[in-house]
Amino acid sequence: MLNPTGEIVAAARAAGGGAGAFNVITVEHAEAIVTGAEEAGLPVILQISENAVRFHHGRLAPIAAAARAIAVSSTVPVALHLDHVESDDLFDQAAAHGFGSVMYDASTRPYAENVAATAAAVRRGHATGLWVESELGAVGGKDGAHAPGVRTDPGEAAAYVAATGVDALAVAVGSSHAMHTRTARLDHDLIGRLRLAVPVPLVLHGSSGVPDDELVAAIRAGMVKINIGTALNSAFTGAVRDTLDGDAALVDPRRYLASARTAMAGTVAAALRLLATPTVV
Ligand code: G3H
Ligand code: ZN
Repeated sequence: MLNPTGEIVAAARAAGGGAGAFNVITVEHAEAIVTGAEEAGLPVILQISENAVRFHHGRLAPIAAAARAIAVSSTVPVALHLDHVESDDLFDQAAAHGFGSVMYDASTRPYAENVAATAAAVRRGHATGLWVESELGAVGGKDGAHAPGVRTDPGEAAAYVAATGVDALAVAVGSSHAMHTRTARLDHDLIGRLRLAVPVPLVLHGSSGVPDDELVAAIRAGMVKINIGTALNSAFTGAVRDTLDGDAALVDPRRYLASARTAMAGTVAAALRLLATPTVV
């Protein structure tokens, strides 16, 4: 069933856990994410990034419709989120395509510009019922982003949230996008100070590079929405590679895509269980 993102995030926060948000590139990603959530019996957020829309020839409608249909037919609550949106035009298409939320990303712009553009996006988004996330401090590993060493200042974060009216805030606390090894170390003390300074849920980007014990500690310190993308792509590609390596005569893509989907679903189920019960270290 399709649920509002804000409800899934609020429920996770109230329970002292994290809400898992996974990036969709292909239809198989969306199917695997929902299958993994159903296996775990837990809600999940499907997110499609502006980069993924670009991959689909710049067309939001087909991939959004597929993800939405998969979400609607699920047995667990599923939210639809548009991720890392820099284009105002794409932001303004979100509600009409069934998204409950958008991450508006002006994080690489100077502070005053980030505030002005985000506040305007929030006003437009709220008018169409969207829950809006944005970012302050530019998590590393994206084009144009600052180095992984950048940190979000709690005082600036409090002022930013008050000035923009965002519903959730992505912060830079040591994670970095697109890591292939789980070696990131997070600043737990900073997460705790951000949680006290900022009234809205905090969002961790680049979570694929964060080891389990660090994820648990981050949720305990105050992180709520946990974004995972690269870990699914590693599972997808590893499974495709293994399947093709095992059968040189294979030509039917359903064989290797099925392996990829199963591998991604397993990754999602394990991650969701960890996030929902952040006590295992
Ligand atoms: O917004 C998406 C996430 O930040 C995913 O990051 O691919 O490094 O897990 P990741
Ligand atoms: Zn991200």
